[in-house]
Amino acid sequence: MTDQNPIEALKALEVLALTAIADAPDADALEDVRVSFLGRKEGRISLILRDLGSMSPEERPAVGQEANRVKGVVCVALEARDLDFAGPGAAGGLDLTLPARGVWQGGLHPITQAVDEIWGIFRDLGFTRARGPEADTEWYNFEALNTPLDHPAADEQDTLYLVDSVLLRSHTSPVQMRTMEKYQPPIRILAPGWVYRRDTYDATHTPAFMQIEGLVIDEGITFVDFKATLAEFARRYWGPGTQTRFRPSFFPFTEPSAEVDVKRVITRPDGSTEETDWLEIMGAGMVDPAVLENAGYDSERYTGFAFGMGPARIAKLKHGVDDLRTFFENDVRFLAQFGS
Ligand code: PHE
Repeated sequence: MTDQNPIEALKALEVLALTAIADAPDADALEDVRVSFLGRKEGRISLILRDLGSMSPEERPAVGQEANRVKGVVCVALEARDLDFAGPGAAGGLDLTLPARGVWQGGLHPITQAVDEIWGIFRDLGFTRARGPEADTEWYNFEALNTPLDHPAADEQDTLYLVDSVLLRSHTSPVQMRTMEKYQPPIRILAPGWVYRRDTYDATHTPAFMQIEGLVIDEGITFVDFKATLAEFARRYWGPGTQTRFRPSFFPFTEPSAEVDVKRVITRPDGSTEETDWLEIMGAGMVDPAVLENAGYDSERYTGFAFGMGPARIAKLKHGVDDLRTFFENDVRFLAQFGS
């Protein structure tokens, strides 16, 4: 090899090595190829690198550079060929036949999951889905719902006004009127959506939150339909043993009005059961005749009920989350726990 230009010799070795690597029939033969070209003592490429010291200072840098290039190419080819021989248990204990580990690409937000579950139950009960704008007029947000603008209920819920008399809706109840204006009874709708309040951001309040409105209007709808529908919802959502309680309340747009509470039965791992405390899940009531008249309905002919619930609260309870804010901080370590 001494009578040959070392750069030419390296190029020839590169071709030889790559051919030998491609032809190696198994891992042992491949190892022999590695030793014969790159082995520290007798490797043919290693020998040229070792000879660098005896070369002239003019020759040395170019030969060194070429030797390193060829060494790199041969190493890469050896690794690639090595993978061809790697079966289960090969490649240093890695099982390359295992399916790749999935990358979590995101999932439905826990509040969205709660909305979907609640919607699924009402859909089975014959409801359709409705929606309305998040910015609505004082008429739809308050007045059409029998709430005069100087009523304390309007003050309490004053939110951000965008332009004169258009504000971020403080509840999903405006969807009641918007639906009644468009359709004639029978009406059975569920309307989830974002609402806004002048609330401080703390463990139990967020100034923007999700609400789910429900509205049923038809001839002959009574308080019995109202109670039975919501009790059935609670049983389907929390289990057959769930009890429902209607406490008298006040909303300008329902008469009579109620806060609906549920008491769940929890089964412990040992099979014994335990009743939870009463938990308030929604405001509700029979639709006030004044609201029906505002919609142009004959309030002598039609009656109905309405309700508004907070799915974030329901999700919080279901998952044992103690601070509502964690739902909105977008910490993937928290959100990824809800799978989906
Ligand atoms: N809109 C009421 C609220 O946000 C809830 C409600 C809806 C009450 C429908 C009665 C009927 O507090």
